[in-house]
Amino acid sequence: MRALALVLLLWPACAAAEFFTLKGHGGPIMGIAVGPDGQIATASFDNSVGLWTGRAPHWFEGHEAAVNTVAFQGGVLYSAGDDFTLRRWPEGTVLGRHKGKITGLALSDTHAATASWDGTIGLWPLDGAAPRSLDAGSGVNAVVFSPDGAQLYSAGMDGVLRLWDVASGSELRQITRHGFGINEIVLNAPDGWLAYGAVDGVTRVIDLATGAERDFTLDRRPVLALALSPDRSQLAVGDGEGYIMVIDTDSWRIARDFRATLRGPVWALAFSPDGANIHAGGIDDTMYSWPVASLSEHGKMASGERSFLKSPEDMDNGERQFARKCSICHALTADGGRRAGPTLYQIFGRRAGTLPGYLYSDTLAGSEIVWTEDSINSLFDLGPDHYIPGSKMPMQRITGAQDRADLIAYLRRATLAKEQP
Ligand code: HEC
Repeated sequence: MRALALVLLLWPACAAAEFFTLKGHGGPIMGIAVGPDGQIATASFDNSVGLWTGRAPHWFEGHEAAVNTVAFQGGVLYSAGDDFTLRRWPEGTVLGRHKGKITGLALSDTHAATASWDGTIGLWPLDGAAPRSLDAGSGVNAVVFSPDGAQLYSAGMDGVLRLWDVASGSELRQITRHGFGINEIVLNAPDGWLAYGAVDGVTRVIDLATGAERDFTLDRRPVLALALSPDRSQLAVGDGEGYIMVIDTDSWRIARDFRATLRGPVWALAFSPDGANIHAGGIDDTMYSWPVASLSEHGKMASGERSFLKSPEDMDNGERQFARKCSICHALTADGGRRAGPTLYQIFGRRAGTLPGYLYSDTLAGSEIVWTEDSINSLFDLGPDHYIPGSKMPMQRITGAQDRADLIAYLRRATLAKEQP
């Protein structure tokens, strides 16, 4: 709440468009889509999809791992993610299954297309006919249909931007070969260009008729999100360092460039139907919607950098360790929120694998470990993969003894019986 109040103070003069946040997810927001009536869909690391018509979400549960991407077609919502599945809501029907995580999703009137790290593009007819798989040779990050659905653009880890014929499934041509992986593509068919964002921080716009390129690369990496405003006049670019750049596509100038978050990347961007707001998702559990007109103009950022989160410099080392390495998956509060891991509320003295309502791995559920300063220290000294092999906890070690001690001291303070504010 404090962050919201602060932000409203910073933007006193936003006339029509307003800053707002959508809260409820328990993990980073990886994908955002805007529906025909302006409803917002969010895909989260917390395994759920949120559908927001006002500020109160409708939760769609069914994915068994992080959800990376959401898209609307004909008012129907689709999503895909790290559990390798493509799903249709509200039922959660599995329409497609890959052999690797799905990071990109596009829809035409007749097909869903999925970009997967298994090296293929899935083409799933919406009428239930037999699916097809296009071999892209290496992990695919993004797909987008031509407006008539007859062609499909794809890009991925090999940095090759390809054009496919949907009917035959054959590769028509390679539009560009970028030396680094491409994360995102956006097509503006009416104006004849395509934009891509890459791992090395490159943002480029390619004229599809001539092949001419315009470069908007700044010194930040990687580019993780792209969005085109409905009137096609603004292209928004989100990067790994928490900035959003807005390119004016009439004058081809960088119109705005602002820091949207202090902590980590901007993973998802989408414009509101009137183009007045940019919805952004990242490592916070909150979706932020920024009125474009109030964002700092490019070149005027130096003093008044717009940021609203607690700065890492204001945290002690233990809290910073937690914020960077644990908070993405663990809450510290009694209710636990919606996160990938169990809440660490009152963790000291708790037997491992015993928090009611959390679905543990068999390993942790049957463990004899009791969480103490010593056992938590060993957990991150050795790494979960060695300390409790078979646990769902990701491999990670904290090699500095002082970092572990600071983290444990912070956990002591932050997880003791204290009721939440
Ligand atoms: C990517 C997600 C993720 C991250 C990051 C993560 N954890 Fe976990 N953690 C989990 C999951 C999932 C479990 C449950 C494991 C299981 O069931 O096998 C877990 C379990 C635990 C447990 C045991 C809880 C219990 O009830 O038995 C502790 C303690 C813990 N984590 C501490 C931490 C700390 C401290 C950090 C940061 C240094 C951290 N975790 C980082 C996902 C994560």
